Amino acid sequence: MKRPWIHRVRRALLAAGTTAVLAGGLLTATATTSQAATQEPCDIYAAGGTPCVAAHSTTRALYGAYNGPLYQVKRASDGATKDIGLLSVGGYADAAAQDSFCAGTSCVITVIYDQSGKGNNLTQALKGYWPGPAAGGNDNLANAFEAPVSVGGHEAYGVYVAPGTGYRNNHTSGIATGDQPEGEYGVLDGTHYNGGCCFDYGNAETSSTDTGNGHMEAIYFGNSKTWGYGSGNGPWIMTDQENGLFSGVNARYNANDPSVNDRFLTAVAKGGPNLWAIRAGNAQSGGLSTYYSGVRPNVSGYNPMHKEGAIILGIGGDNSNGSAGTFYEGVMTSGYPSDATENAVQANITAAGYSSASTSTGSLTPGSRVSLQATTACCTSDYLRHDDADTKVVISAVNSASSATEKADASWIVRAGLADSSCLSFESANNPGQFLRHYAFELYLNTDDGGSTFAQDATFCPTPGNSGVGHSFQSVNYATKYLRHYDYTVYVASDGGSNAWDSASSWSQDTSWLTASPWG
Ligand code: AHR
Ligand code: AHR
Repeated sequence: MKRPWIHRVRRALLAAGTTAVLAGGLLTATATTSQAATQEPCDIYAAGGTPCVAAHSTTRALYGAYNGPLYQVKRASDGATKDIGLLSVGGYADAAAQDSFCAGTSCVITVIYDQSGKGNNLTQALKGYWPGPAAGGNDNLANAFEAPVSVGGHEAYGVYVAPGTGYRNNHTSGIATGDQPEGEYGVLDGTHYNGGCCFDYGNAETSSTDTGNGHMEAIYFGNSKTWGYGSGNGPWIMTDQENGLFSGVNARYNANDPSVNDRFLTAVAKGGPNLWAIRAGNAQSGGLSTYYSGVRPNVSGYNPMHKEGAIILGIGGDNSNGSAGTFYEGVMTSGYPSDATENAVQANITAAGYSSASTSTGSLTPGSRVSLQATTACCTSDYLRHDDADTKVVISAVNSASSATEKADASWIVRAGLADSSCLSFESANNPGQFLRHYAFELYLNTDDGGSTFAQDATFCPTPGNSGVGHSFQSVNYATKYLRHYDYTVYVASDGGSNAWDSASSWSQDTSWLTASPWG
């Protein structure tokens, strides 16, 4: 844990610009040596002779002396941006600044600043070989509220990567190229992943296209088996070396790469001439284990490497953007860090005190869980839920005596809209990865296929209730249509129209919903 008095002392020393001996000779520090600063991950890497050349975090400073911005947010209401900085030098994110700047609107993360001084900031990934879902074929930006977390007892937000979301920098400085050695770590949410390509953090092509084997070296986390995999059912930490997620020396299966799903997960990768490693640990306690350390994969094209030195987060090298994950902090180094250096960094991470945030419930803030209650006089005991026997979405009575399955069927995790992060999507509480979506204007619970039609069909923009009560949810791709129950089945419906469920009778009541505490 951080010792706040050290920070207070250090700030005072910096202000005074003097050398001081503290009571009892406990600590000596000067403004110029920064000996009193807490050693943060990049101080540890520097002491090991492998300095950070990129350092990204939305939760905390990665240098004891860092006092700049961590990230920038942009709000939907007026497009204004704001840098989110630290509560103290070398300390934790000032998340309250985000809360107040974004109050009453929504915010996306527009920049994740590089703390290393190299200027290797991460911004919206632009269209690569694969287009993203945003305008121009670019990738989405992360909703700034979707990954609430607690760090050292402080509120903070991680970077929530839904499929389609991606950050990149193709014009870096100081990042390893060719066969040069480098190290990388990321602190991730080990419970948030999928099998899409590719939730990566690290070194990639500067062209956003696949330029061949060995042109990438990034941490991968997820349960894709397209290229490589390890023991169990995943998810696995692998390294993305381009045209291959490698779990060890072999192209596909390597038994020593275990499934890992700690809520907070430290994932470590490093690579140099004919040498690379995968290491990992629980970011809340304990040390790192080594899952692979040895020669390059026994497939041609990876020795020597052809690293290009761009940086990606949440996507593959060619802007493949079907993956999901959550990122809290991570760095890239110059030089191949020793295991001892990485072990010391892991000790710093576990001491930082990551824990789950107590998420708000019953609200429409991304990350919250809600139930949606009908307001029409017929149906005020009814909640929007998915069927178990089929994929339809209906309303039915739910109360405290309902089964656990029924309660969960009527509970939804609020997500930033898959097609528009200022709107919303609703993920099933008991079928992760499945979202409410319309198809032929009827509602279904379907797995996100990563496509833009799905994303639009699953995105609803909240408005004041059409009847003057509660909220209504407007389809993002059919703006006259709102979530409506009709004959106990749920549709997107306009106020009069060609489908039976477009009936103007009680349309405004049927399209108005109350947000309620989640049943499950
Ligand atoms: O190596 C796996 C993926 O293959 C890369 O991330 C991507 O560039 C390519 O499609
Ligand atoms: O629900 C209306 C449209 O029906 C959806 O956008 C599409 O997926 C389907 O054709």
